[in-house]
Amino acid sequence: MRPTLIAPSILAADFSKIGEEVTDVIAAGADWVHLDVMDGHFVPNISFGPVIIEKLRPLTDAFFDTHLMIAPCDPYLEAFAKAGSDMITVHLEAGPHIHRSLQAIRALGKKAGVAINPGTPVSMLENLIDMVDLILIMSVNPGFGGQKYIAEAADKVAQARALAGERDIFIEVDGGITPDTAPLVTSRGADVLVAGSAVYKGEGQTAYRANIDAIRAAVAC
Ligand code: DX5
Ligand code: ZN
Repeated sequence: MRPTLIAPSILAADFSKIGEEVTDVIAAGADWVHLDVMDGHFVPNISFGPVIIEKLRPLTDAFFDTHLMIAPCDPYLEAFAKAGSDMITVHLEAGPHIHRSLQAIRALGKKAGVAINPGTPVSMLENLIDMVDLILIMSVNPGFGGQKYIAEAADKVAQARALAGERDIFIEVDGGITPDTAPLVTSRGADVLVAGSAVYKGEGQTAYRANIDAIRAAVAC
């Protein structure tokens, strides 16, 4: 069993002081930084691009987990790699050539992740499994933070874990993760939990530590 990693989504942070929000959450015990990139086309919201990631990169050596909710993604992979992403996750639904996108990410020297929306079955990943370092099961329809967890995600986590088998693949869940919902997915094989609103609740390092500790405590039993 691998330890559960907590990856706060900065989408829920205060962007007027985004650097501090990132260093605070790492100081508060977060494992990864989850960076939600939205284009107003693949998803109905716009967030930020590689420039923000590049500015955050020198502030911490924490693992940068970039979640691209953009279509097309291929023209931008190099920019997100150069900006300092460690993992780049692209959506299966974002284009016709997911193989090419995953190959390109690895060719850039980065870990490659594939994300699937709530409406996409895990079986769609069967022919990709040796090309990925992470499978991201969306437990909300992507686009916004603060949405309600979709319960069907738990079965998909179990299916993804079974598909991964002995391979060294992270199973990440994103959307509506709280101390109440986290155990529903870790018990089925998820080992990376993205949480936006549940972590960036309150203000500052002390509040964030309590929020992260609450998720960890919930999945420990
Ligand atoms: C959804 C994003 C998520 C989201 C998570 O489109 O990919 O990372 O910000 O936020 P919460 O934890 O608030 O659901
Ligand atoms: Zn995300």
